Amino acid sequence: MNTQNNTVNILFIGDIVGRGGRKTVKSAISRLKEELSLDLIIANAENSASGFGITLNVYKELLGFGIDICTSGNHIYDKKEIVGYLDNLDKLIRPANLPSKAPGKGFVVVEKKGVRFLIVNLLGRVFMPLSDCPFQTFEKILSEYPDCLPIVDFHGEATSEKNAFAYNFDGKALAVIGTHTHVQTNDDRLLPNGTFYITDAGMCGALDSCIGVVKENSIEKFLTSVPIKFDVEKKGKMLFNAVFFSIDTDTKKIVKFEKIYNICGE
Ligand code: FE2
Repeated sequence: MNTQNNTVNILFIGDIVGRGGRKTVKSAISRLKEELSLDLIIANAENSASGFGITLNVYKELLGFGIDICTSGNHIYDKKEIVGYLDNLDKLIRPANLPSKAPGKGFVVVEKKGVRFLIVNLLGRVFMPLSDCPFQTFEKILSEYPDCLPIVDFHGEATSEKNAFAYNFDGKALAVIGTHTHVQTNDDRLLPNGTFYITDAGMCGALDSCIGVVKENSIEKFLTSVPIKFDVEKKGKMLFNAVFFSIDTDTKKIVKFEKIYNICGE
């Protein structure tokens, strides 16, 4: 792929599910880092530890792969051990529209090639846990960082909510990338005012699974309505889902984008 010195090349990796997802991400980054001349790697890591939540060791492992910033969502506090560390971790963010006393930070600024990026995590409110308005929360954050290019991980269930958010901030956000459903959508595009958008970046986890968990677990729950423990699917081919986009360091506009849907191994 043609890459240039006057671009910042960014990879956003969809929800990483469990050990299999991590292994897939490690090998994908080692392959893509050079091929795409990656400058900034962001990944949703809220399911990276055993399929639910994240631990300190897993966080360190992901940074070791070359990931710059981990985002999260409704599962951020699932592993209790991470809660006490969150205020002091500068490369893992939780949804910004949680209560102000919620542990952790909702956004982070990172600089690459002289360009300052504002990476923000937000939680949708349709079919999701209670949270503050993501629109108003983001408006407030934007007003505090006018010199940065905002990249949003909008962690939500409803397509309509993600669509509305992206159009509302078209031209104000550099990118609005949906996560949480674990299924990559085919609507990646530049909106009329230049914001890069995709409803869901997808996941890194087992292909033959229900969004990463053993499909029989999920089927049984739907058939019986009885709560059941979900196990992460570890067998078979793995998915690596991500989106790549590139900005010109002078114009600060997106000059290239593509989604990545790889099926790996056996
Ligand atoms: Fe989620």
